Amino acid sequence: MGVTYYPSTRAGLVTEPFRKEAEVPLRKPYGSAETRTFRRPGRGRLLLVVAAAAAALAAVVVVLSPAGAVAPADGASKGGTVGTRWGRLSALDRQLLVKVRQAGLWEMPAGQQAQQRASSARVKEVGDMIMQQHMTLDADTRVTAQKLGVLLPNEPGNGQKAWLREMSGKFGADFDRTFVHRLREAHGQVFTVIAKVRAQTENSEIRAFAERCLKFVNTHMTLLESTGLVTRQALS
Ligand SMILES: [Fe+2]
Repeated sequence: MGVTYYPSTRAGLVTEPFRKEAEVPLRKPYGSAETRTFRRPGRGRLLLVVAAAAAALAAVVVVLSPAGAVAPADGASKGGTVGTRWGRLSALDRQLLVKVRQAGLWEMPAGQQAQQRASSARVKEVGDMIMQQHMTLDADTRVTAQKLGVLLPNEPGNGQKAWLREMSGKFGADFDRTFVHRLREAHGQVFTVIAKVRAQTENSEIRAFAERCLKFVNTHMTLLESTGLVTRQALS
């Protein structure tokens, strides 16, 4: 059975377009009716040149200012820290967006698999809730990433793909155990990234995003534990 990764077009997100800040001052007309009525044509021409130069300078200032800056759209780890209007954005900040995106890209199909393969009614229920919540979190992730100019992957990581393949070969109680333990393991991993970013980031958008992510991770851990399958025996 094939695995669906929920590419960006599946989650029905309405994204906001980038603002082209540099265009704003350029839309202003370079001259006006008043400037053409001056009796001394030489002075009018001079005013036009000065106005054009001022507009060009304003455009350059807007492009170079932190308010108009965007991060290089290079995913998780390439590039250094860049300025944004919400504070500096580090490689670790970008990594958080990528990790949370990839968490959704494998947990959504995993939750869907639980509907078809699980034997426990609670595992099916938990799988459905996790899938639904990741659709919400994925939309949030993409809006935040777009705001900060960070490109996101459209596929889960290789390890996550392997977990999906593993689960797609299981049914019943075997599936239930694998589903709960793999998801719990994954949440443990992403939890450390979120906590580190939450503690270190200088970017207010990322700080708020990390806070929202922590709530989802805590909820999913609790949901997985509510299946009764996270036992000391099973974890050893
Ligand atoms: Fe999750």
